[in-house]
Amino acid sequence: MKKMLTGLQPTGVITLGNYIGAIKQMVKYQDEYESYLFIADLHSITVPQDPTELSKNIKSLLALYIACGIDPNKNIIFIQSENEYHANISWLLECNTYYGELSRMTQFKDKSKKQVNFTSGLFTYPVLMAADILAYDADYVPVGVDQKQHVELARDIAIRFNKKYGDTFTIPEPLISASGTKIMDLVDPTKKMSKSSDNQKGVIRLLDDVNVIRKKIMGATTDSEMIVKFDPINKPGISNLINIYSAITNMSISDIESKFSTSNYGQFKREVADVVIDEITKIQNKYNEIINSDTLNEILDNGIKITREIAKKKFEDMKHKMGFMRV
Ligand code: AMP
Ligand code: TRP
Repeated sequence: MKKMLTGLQPTGVITLGNYIGAIKQMVKYQDEYESYLFIADLHSITVPQDPTELSKNIKSLLALYIACGIDPNKNIIFIQSENEYHANISWLLECNTYYGELSRMTQFKDKSKKQVNFTSGLFTYPVLMAADILAYDADYVPVGVDQKQHVELARDIAIRFNKKYGDTFTIPEPLISASGTKIMDLVDPTKKMSKSSDNQKGVIRLLDDVNVIRKKIMGATTDSEMIVKFDPINKPGISNLINIYSAITNMSISDIESKFSTSNYGQFKREVADVVIDEITKIQNKYNEIINSDTLNEILDNGIKITREIAKKKFEDMKHKMGFMRV
């Protein structure tokens, strides 16, 4: 079975966009691959974090993914910082990565521009990501488009290392979901629904109060035509609501258009709100059930036990090949 691995940064509460565009896909993948899923907490400190908030976010994100359908029996789930080999492997890889390569990373260019003073961790971030991936010989790495360049760098580093020191790493491939629908902001449906949006009214978060969710959907920007028709260019607001309805109910766009052919926008929005709230309520109930249970700790204990062994082996192999041994 091919291996799949992905990391999740414990920053911001995940949105309906993340759920439809990424998590639902991952739930599908877990049946097709040997899956590794970890919280990339070491990556999150490349920008300032409040320690108390950080530890709360790590736990909450884990519980939320499991509540969304990530099955602990089908995924090896762990916390990156608990596995010391990631940072160790990262250093060995850093010394096989060029300054020029890291300087070309577009995420670094964007993020460093936004801060007056940024750390060297922000610069070397992609190498730690390569370590995460290469330690497990992952074949596939599902990521958003913004992370594709980092996975390509991991490939380049792996190819270079294999050439220099002999066959050590599997060459990973990014897995960019083509079918995942892009969910747009409810207030400005021409831009992506995003965790970091300034206007909260446009973004549905999975832990929002359901009454707030209903208000946000009822207040979504539409148009003056009053026909429920899929036309993303001329009717971005209504098309976005159709996409949301379709992703949750698995109904086709044309079936949705027929179903609501005589409805006004108010009626349509009410039904969209109903299905979204129904889905999110199930997630929230599951979340509340596990957030303070022992289950999370058991899952993490199991995950770290397995992954530490795998990463340790890879680290020892690398060290040996690089000449770190007593002779
Ligand atoms: P981000 O929240 O930008 O770190 O993205 C995490 C994952 O969620 C990536 O795979 C994104 O492609 C996906 N994602 C984020 N926002 C949306 C959205 N509005 N619609 C669809 N997918 C999204
Ligand atoms: N950098 C990724 C992000 O911000 C998270 C991440 C860290 C990751 N290590 C990874 C993703 C390894 C895939 C594989 O989304």
